Amino acid sequence: DIDPRTIGGSPVDVAGVLKGRRMRRTRRMDWSRRLVRENTLTVDDLIWPMFVTEGHGVREPVPSMPGVFRLSVDEIGAAAEEAAELKIPAVALFPYTGPDKRDEQGSEAYNADNLVCRSCREIARRAPGVGIMTDVALDPYTSHGHDGIMVGDEIVNDITVEALIRQALTQVEAGCHIIAPSDMMDGRIGAIRTALDEAGHENVLIMAYAAKFASAFYGPFRDAVGASGALKGDKRTYQLDPANGDEAMREVALDLDEAADMVMVKPGMPYLDVVRRVREKFAVPTFAYMVSGEYAMIEAAAANGWLDGERAMMESLMAFKRAGADGILTYHAPRAARRLAAG
Ligand code: PBG
Repeated sequence: DIDPRTIGGSPVDVAGVLKGRRMRRTRRMDWSRRLVRENTLTVDDLIWPMFVTEGHGVREPVPSMPGVFRLSVDEIGAAAEEAAELKIPAVALFPYTGPDKRDEQGSEAYNADNLVCRSCREIARRAPGVGIMTDVALDPYTSHGHDGIMVGDEIVNDITVEALIRQALTQVEAGCHIIAPSDMMDGRIGAIRTALDEAGHENVLIMAYAAKFASAFYGPFRDAVGASGALKGDKRTYQLDPANGDEAMREVALDLDEAADMVMVKPGMPYLDVVRRVREKFAVPTFAYMVSGEYAMIEAAAANGWLDGERAMMESLMAFKRAGADGILTYHAPRAARRLAAG
């Protein structure tokens, strides 16, 4: 047994220093911890990103994202039903496209029967209450793996924006509710908004990937959508430099000026300072994407027994709320939702 008197013996009068100020008082009991808790995470905060692939009854594991699968359209329908049961508000769709359907212009983006469009119709039929978000960018469909149209070595902005408008209209006609441009071309939010309005889709929402950084954390996603092998070079001529926070604010300001309904910061955990700044400066619906590499880090460490994956997941999601995010796109969405439902 420990005798406190033999440990003490310091000349400093600790109680005297504290003068009654003890931060640990509210931390002592579960009830008092709950009483002073500043943020809550609920299922309403989650958006579930899903990967779609060809076939029927297909659930193909993504090797660099343990627990995540590429799903055929029918399985996407089943997953959307699961989202509805779990009360996850919305799902986000990303197609896996093999080399056969990729070309220089990313023409498959405007195919009204592409994987994303078929998934929209399947989800609307089987889980009509679930919000459907679709990604606008050409990288799933280009032979070079870039988000835009390439002329020589350059991703040409204005021509790409025209292509993105066509892609967005194709997705909206298939029934998506939220258009999410992730391409980082200049002016695409305003151009897409105008085109949607002119086509009578004034109620379709736009969530701008406003502050999207050129990040190494997208690696596993590029495997998942079949872009890793395809990508020539990197995306630094259009995605933000990870060193720049003020520039991210200007991107967000422009996208809001172009009538974005919601803005997103991406990746998530290494960029929580940006989430906080966006929230404070603009006070608009602010989302963060906990990307594939962030998912992979937690899962890999958990698989090795190096950390408690479940706790690391819930702690990370809460950190987004503390930073000021209204919602989080996360591959952990179904697991977190189940955990939240269990209480
Ligand atoms: C496509 C896109 C990417 C992600 C979402 N949309 C990859 C990229 O820009 O290279 C990454 C998502 C993730 O890593 O989970 N433009």
